[in-house]
Amino acid sequence: MHIPDLQTLRPSPARDRVEILDQTRLPHARVTVSLATATDAAQAIRTMQVRGAPLIGATAAFGLALALRGDASERSLAEAHALLLAARPTAVNLRWALDRVRVRVAPLATPKRASAAWDEAQAIAGEDIATNRALGEHGLRVIETLVAQKEQPLQILTHCNAGALATLGWGTATAPIYLAHGAGIPLHVWVSETRPRLQGARLTAWELRAHGVPHTLIVDAAGAALMRQRRVDLVLVGADRVTRNGDVCNKIGTYEKALAARDNAVPMYAAVPSTTIDWTLADGDDVPIEERDAAEVLVPGGEPIAPDGTHVANPAFDITPGRLLTGLITERGVCAATSAGLAALFPEHAHG
Ligand code: MRU
Repeated sequence: MHIPDLQTLRPSPARDRVEILDQTRLPHARVTVSLATATDAAQAIRTMQVRGAPLIGATAAFGLALALRGDASERSLAEAHALLLAARPTAVNLRWALDRVRVRVAPLATPKRASAAWDEAQAIAGEDIATNRALGEHGLRVIETLVAQKEQPLQILTHCNAGALATLGWGTATAPIYLAHGAGIPLHVWVSETRPRLQGARLTAWELRAHGVPHTLIVDAAGAALMRQRRVDLVLVGADRVTRNGDVCNKIGTYEKALAARDNAVPMYAAVPSTTIDWTLADGDDVPIEERDAAEVLVPGGEPIAPDGTHVANPAFDITPGRLLTGLITERGVCAATSAGLAALFPEHAHG
């Protein structure tokens, strides 16, 4: 099947800018924005014109390359790296991608840095597509196993947008779904709307529709009830950061889905490219959780929905303990969401 690529990010052949799909305008308008500097890239990440862990990482990598195009000095490298790293705190792909570009260019003479950084950013973008495809094949096996045991169509619930829009192509949670759909396996996706920014309603529903995958939008609070009614066979989500012990940080509301899934014996997996694993953190308690603006909660559609002066807490992510998950789907295979499970698939990190 063709790559589910929604042109989330397109590097210019002249290597002087990247075109991004402005996700704040979806689903109503398909607007492209041009990023020509590291400041542009940081702004696009901060305002969530680009979002989703892998896409944030790739955008930052190109942002660093754009900074070096203007000034490849040590100082410029350090300043652009810091600027982009500060754009959003939770998805570890951001740090991973920036560090990868920095490691590549730091030993080089300044005239060679911009071009090498661009090459590295392009490699990151290309690898993301291949990684998600590989991860999708392993997730497809999970779906095939469940299909053999359940009535069809298979009912899959997902939260937020861990789709092609969150990546360079395929998505993570959606990669197995697209492959299964492409293989003719009957399935239906429950799309959790994902308050407050509605990534499920605005983005996942949009891209599933674009690819012809049957789906139904639900309010976030309906997920547990559907699971209790035996109307969900599988929960598939993405991740912004997975710690060494298999704890999964993902969009706020994921933990509640996991609690409901466990209570109702519904299998739940996080689809995780290895770029999302933070080998430096022992468990989820140390993941920085982004706190976003109160306006996202108070004024969701332009009209205030609570009395003036209402205090708001708006944590954007939560931690799902690995023990609540059936497993992690990675590009190297499926493993238990535990230290041992991850170490078996990624032995090079087992003792690091
Ligand atoms: O705040 P967002 O929209 O960037 O959050 C995105 C998510 O939580 C995704 O599930 C995660 O980044 C995985 S994307 C493949």
